[in-house]
Amino acid sequence: MRHYGFDLDEKKLPAHIAIIMDGNGRWAQERSFERAKGHEKGYETLKRIIDFNKKIGVKTISVYAFSTENWQRPQKEVSFLMQLAVNLVQEYTDTLIRNNIRLLITGTDDNVEAGLLSLLKEAMKRTEHCDFYTLNIAFNYGGRREIVDACKKIVVAYKGREKDLRNFSEGDFENNLYQAGLPDVDLMIRSGGEMRISNFLLWQSVYAELWFTKKFWPDFTAKDFCRAIYQYQGRKRRFGGL
Ligand code: FPP
Repeated sequence: MRHYGFDLDEKKLPAHIAIIMDGNGRWAQERSFERAKGHEKGYETLKRIIDFNKKIGVKTISVYAFSTENWQRPQKEVSFLMQLAVNLVQEYTDTLIRNNIRLLITGTDDNVEAGLLSLLKEAMKRTEHCDFYTLNIAFNYGGRREIVDACKKIVVAYKGREKDLRNFSEGDFENNLYQAGLPDVDLMIRSGGEMRISNFLLWQSVYAELWFTKKFWPDFTAKDFCRAIYQYQGRKRRFGGL
């Protein structure tokens, strides 16, 4: 298939793309807007990419919407991001269902207001049957925290039968992450010019191809999305082999 001048090989699509949507704040500051305006624009960009993926058909897209570190931001900005999450589930779940897109919200419940948590859970439940592709929103998420939380579950589950741990595999470990069955990340995209992973999907990204752009997230386009996939398809992946 050809999109925006890029010939994309349908048989070599990444199974899972993870996106770090960075640069909202700087986008706003460059225009002398409040940072919130950048997040609002970033939310619009997110919806455009979700919609565009109907044409491409990547089976899982994860986006980093709020990290466990983001609580350290000014209260006003935190509240704005919480409100965006409310908006997302209240105004967008019907669209997801119409497009057969399953919604997952991944992260810890800690510190999130009970009302918001139940909205998020309800939206997930409503899209449970959708199977065209999965949109996984990392919200109040930290990669290390996810691994620690998995360890805690395992300790509880194996209490009194520690000898069974002898056969415990990486697959068994994965089953204790927030979302069992999430495929490994093939391609990680980060906008905003920084070249780091910032605690996003650590376990799942061990062999991810990394793709960076200096563009701020509000300026990120469907064409950039295609460019990232096209360049990913041109890379040689050896997974530690030859
Ligand atoms: C990083 O940019 C972005 C975020 C912390 C939030 C991303 C959120 C969205 C794109 C909107 C959708 C959100 C929800 C909750 C549904 P930054 O603020 O760190 O930018 P900067 O590095 O330029 O300051």
